[in-house]
Amino acid sequence: MVRKAVIPAAGMGTRFLPVTKAQPKEMLPIIDTPTIQYVVQEAIDSGIEDILIISGKGKRAIEDHFDRSLELEFLLNQKGQHEQFHEISRLSEMANIHFIRQKELKGLGDAISYARQHTGDEPFAVMLGDTIIDSAIPVTQQLIDVYNQFRQSVIAVEEVAPEKTHRYGIIDGKAIDERTYHLSGMVEKPETGHSPSNLAVAGRYILTPEVYKVLEMVTPGKQGEVQLTDALRLLLNRENIYAYRFEGKRHDIGNKLDYLKTTVEYALKREEFAEPFMEYLHEVVTREEKNGK
Ligand code: UTP
Repeated sequence: MVRKAVIPAAGMGTRFLPVTKAQPKEMLPIIDTPTIQYVVQEAIDSGIEDILIISGKGKRAIEDHFDRSLELEFLLNQKGQHEQFHEISRLSEMANIHFIRQKELKGLGDAISYARQHTGDEPFAVMLGDTIIDSAIPVTQQLIDVYNQFRQSVIAVEEVAPEKTHRYGIIDGKAIDERTYHLSGMVEKPETGHSPSNLAVAGRYILTPEVYKVLEMVTPGKQGEVQLTDALRLLLNRENIYAYRFEGKRHDIGNKLDYLKTTVEYALKREEFAEPFMEYLHEVVTREEKNGK
């Protein structure tokens, strides 16, 4: 049974500078809710009871966000702001959330290896702290369903345009049904024209504990980074791995344009903003078109 999730959130977020100089990118808000709160909610909605966040330098705000704030709770109560009071006190009770600090930023694979003691010999979910996925059934739940069928690691993948495959980790594999693939290989950022498929790794995984053994064997890359893709390639020599083309839409918050688009899409889904915001967007588009942009 998959009961635990690991959320790597220690990265520097250099693609989102300058805001990430003194603020974790995982705390960037989609309207009024930090990105990582959506990730934690997805874990809970997938039946996960225990979450380990891999934190690091400059990431205190994440810990504070999921901690109790007695002063704030007192103030909201006093002012009669009951709705906000419940929202804020709910945050510290969302799940059993633990933190561990990645000592050096040595890549996603290294970050995950910090979870070894915590997850022990259980399979666990990995959910990137800067990626949210909008779906009717939580993506981690979709992966858990596949895990329960095969009892092997499962990777969430999405189709990307062939001209964009060079930006992603891409899988090679054989379809065993409409959405599930039996993996035969994986490449990180393949050269254009040399991609084995257009199925990109999408920031959600279920991993078996065997992954920790292969993470130890990975040779770090040029910048000393231990890549998860390299570990999964080694894992393939020992176990089967499956990929699942999930139902839903992925948003990479670490990318500025994606972040902007996500904000707009989520605003349009909120009842209180949908109408006035749509009106405003129409106005902007009409004005820009008139100005010949
Ligand atoms: P990214 O590669 O997108 O994060 O990692 P980054 O390194 O912060 O981004 P840029 O390229 O500099 O802008 C995906 C997730 O893995 C975490 C990040 O915090 C992010 O949530 N991560 C990455 C770690 O926890 N440790 C690392 O060493 C690297």
